[in-house]
Amino acid sequence: MTALAIRNGHLIDPAAGIDAPKDILLKDGKVVEIAGPGKLKSANGAEVLDATGLTVAPGLVDIHVHLREPGQGYKETIATGTAAAAAGGFTSVAAMPNTIPVNDSPETTRWMLAPERNASIRVFPIGAATRGSKGEAINDFAALKSAGAVAVTDDGHPILKDGVMRETLAAAARVGLSVIQHAEDTRLTKGCSMNAGPMAFKLGLRGMPPEAESGLVERDIRLVSELRDARVHLHVAHTSTAAAVAAVRQARRNGLRVTCEVAPHHFLLTEEHVGLYSTHAKMNPPLRSAADRDAMIEAILDGVVDAIATDHAPHATHEKEVEFENAPNGITGLETALGLCLRWLHKEWKLPLGRVLSLLSAQPAALLGLKGRGTLTVGSFADVVVFDPKAEWTYRAADTRSKSRNTPFDGWTLQGKVRWTISEGRIAHRGNGQSSIKP
Ligand code: DOR
Ligand code: ZN
Repeated sequence: MTALAIRNGHLIDPAAGIDAPKDILLKDGKVVEIAGPGKLKSANGAEVLDATGLTVAPGLVDIHVHLREPGQGYKETIATGTAAAAAGGFTSVAAMPNTIPVNDSPETTRWMLAPERNASIRVFPIGAATRGSKGEAINDFAALKSAGAVAVTDDGHPILKDGVMRETLAAAARVGLSVIQHAEDTRLTKGCSMNAGPMAFKLGLRGMPPEAESGLVERDIRLVSELRDARVHLHVAHTSTAAAVAAVRQARRNGLRVTCEVAPHHFLLTEEHVGLYSTHAKMNPPLRSAADRDAMIEAILDGVVDAIATDHAPHATHEKEVEFENAPNGITGLETALGLCLRWLHKEWKLPLGRVLSLLSAQPAALLGLKGRGTLTVGSFADVVVFDPKAEWTYRAADTRSKSRNTPFDGWTLQGKVRWTISEGRIAHRGNGQSSIKP
């Protein structure tokens, strides 16, 4: 593999505390040298990428995506989902197990990792916590881990039974895996298609009460605290309510290993975006009230949120173009996350660039124990995103690399244009830096 030298860029590596002009040399899939501008010692013969005016950062890490393979290749494949990820600056994605079949076995985990899937960046499968994600019998976590699974979850199908969740937390801790919970008490949300509130009332739809989320988060935190085992790690997926982040904040004050992620749509949109039954505003958890949205922003700014994760959930056009109540939950997100975070978290709400990038790389990588990812110190994987931090551009769903176009962000102005995404030393995406700049 030829070496790659990224010259004249501004390196931001939050985990290493670097925010300075640096050249960086990548060889054999790893970072081999970092030096001041023009000072690389071993770059002879390397292909050079000129990053003048650009930010160089660890490749982004999304710990919550749905790649739909095996089983639903018409929505997305591992190849198309990872191509969209690379276009968005991501070099690592953790793939949820609600595939067909459910990824509850080492065989399926290995199938997802096979070279035949043509992933353009690194995929980290997440194994199902219970057989078929039915919330009853716990899977063999040691076997899933040795096949490559990095966490366990029944995402989309919350584990409701106290005993099963307790056993899941304990068994995962024994083998060093995190448990990710999609916190939704489905006994309270049956037949509901959006958030409970004035919008649901106006539209005549049944609404999911915020307590369905926060109640389960509180239950899970109680279980973690009762287990009294420092190895237990609960990660709350796509937190969307003020009460749920308040519970996570308190758990952390109590010294528990409880983390949470927030998706861009939950800190940017509210139930108002459902408008007149727009299925591109339908996802689970649903868009919430303005107060909940504000609580997400506050929790991101004050550090309670550990990661931004997209919950990239592709669905085919014919599936979304139906009555609101019959449409599947989910929106795509891999290509818009960085641009939304830079436009809003950084530019609008003044979160320093290093902290935004940390939420998109260093922290999620650390959370799932992805060694050598989320940082660019010498010896780390050569996973890099190079982007123009100032470029404003308009996102066009029609240009997506994903197989699906179910995004509420079509036509939005984003900030930060990805120029190169490099996965283990190979260029996985080249952005020309010009397409759709400013409408
Ligand atoms: O919006 C969602 N989409 N929420 C889920 O829980 C599942 C996911 C999907 O798989 O489409
Ligand atoms: Zn999900």
